[in-house]
Amino acid sequence: MNKPAPRTFHVKSFGCQMNVYDGARMTELLESEGLSAAAGADEADLVVLNTCHIREKAAEKVYSDIGRLRREDGTTPMIAVAGCVAQAEGAEIPRRAPSVDIVVGPQAYHRLPDLVRAARTGKAVDTDMPAESKFEALPARRRQGPTAFLTVQEGCDKFCTYCVVPYTRGAEVSRPWAAVVDEAKALIDAGAREITLLGQNVNAWEGEDEAGRTQGLGGLIRALDKLPGLERIRYTTSHPNDMRDDLIIAHKEVASLMPFLHLPVQAGSDRILKAMNRSHSVDSYLRVIDRVREARPDIAVSGDFIVGFPGETEEDFAATLALIARVEHAQAFSFKYSPRPGTPAAVMDDQIAAAVMDERLQRLQGLLNEQQHAFNRATLGKTLKVLIERNGKRPGQRIGKSPWLQSVIVEDGPDIGTLVEVEIVSSGPNSLVGALTRVSAAA
Ligand code: SAH
Ligand code: SF4
Ligand code: F3S
Repeated sequence: MNKPAPRTFHVKSFGCQMNVYDGARMTELLESEGLSAAAGADEADLVVLNTCHIREKAAEKVYSDIGRLRREDGTTPMIAVAGCVAQAEGAEIPRRAPSVDIVVGPQAYHRLPDLVRAARTGKAVDTDMPAESKFEALPARRRQGPTAFLTVQEGCDKFCTYCVVPYTRGAEVSRPWAAVVDEAKALIDAGAREITLLGQNVNAWEGEDEAGRTQGLGGLIRALDKLPGLERIRYTTSHPNDMRDDLIIAHKEVASLMPFLHLPVQAGSDRILKAMNRSHSVDSYLRVIDRVREARPDIAVSGDFIVGFPGETEEDFAATLALIARVEHAQAFSFKYSPRPGTPAAVMDDQIAAAVMDERLQRLQGLLNEQQHAFNRATLGKTLKVLIERNGKRPGQRIGKSPWLQSVIVEDGPDIGTLVEVEIVSSGPNSLVGALTRVSAAA
């Protein structure tokens, strides 16, 4: 029996910002096919779970989420598993969870409409990494909030020994200059005032400008800076080895490039960095940080850390704490090492006991939280420019971001999408409270 064609859909994204971006593009694609967005998963004829495979918990969550889609009358919507779990597990997913109808990888989701048609009569699995670019096949960007993501680079050739991304996202590819500039213009026309350029190694982006000159991310940022209506540019995630001079200097010269750098280092011991195949040392990372701070002294530094990588001794871990103390982070993400199937680190000797990882993570996060709190406290009494992004909980309350990516709560209801000046009146570990000084006029 054929299943009916879905008329409504719901996309739920997990994992990194690139999945958020992909989720937005799948939404636009399904809308362009005549489907309409449902209020939530419970009301949708088609539910897309856009998944993350980075750690075991994230990957396993998919299966409980699939279970939860079953409705009281025993029926399930059409279910599509997209994203990195789809790529990693492929046809294994409907074998383990028979209510799944579609499996579609991160490089094949432009084919979603065909897969939805095929799923009416059977399982539809597409985990190709096709030569053609999905971006060319997707509909144009539409309605936008004040902040938008724009994927400019995908994939990874670095093969850190713990990481699944090179397998789930494929090889490093940069989108062409013109495609990026055109999409940025479309986002601005649709209401974006801030664009965050995305890539697994976004600072490895490379392309040719209109004149045929080779450009890196710094050159691309300079071009985007000239687009009327764009107030703020950010980029994430970067690799220490791809932090080239043109990008570092852009932090000094390009006013719309926000003073924030997410530059994961993972660990502070050269022995562990080597076992991770990070291809940088503590020293080379610190030199990059010093150069960036020389160019832009007020830059906020963020990072990712893994505790309990196989073989990590107490001494190695102490070196990570020492590195954190030296760098001083505005914020950071930290994780317990999670062995991932098919990665070299998963079969290394000396896997670290869970209790040891827990204890190390706690100490590490204690230090990072202190640093984040101190960073926030330093803004007390200062006047900051805040881009208003959304409503807060109370009437008239709005929430926006400072240049350093701090969440700022503002009363007195400035319009969403405006850049306002606020004086910081209180600071907490995770957000600031600001009072309006004056709405920046045209800007
Ligand atoms: N390309 C980016 C980040 C990709 S994944 C980079 O290299 O920085 C985001 C973060 O997840 C990583 O920086 C790392 O800290 C963490 N991560 C990746 N694999 C992991 C694993 N197997 N266990 C625990 N954390 C992991
Ligand atoms: Fe994963 Fe390393 Fe590539 Fe980042 S650089 S995506 S951590 S393999
Ligand atoms: Fe997760 Fe894939 Fe992003 S594994 S972190 S969704 S690239």
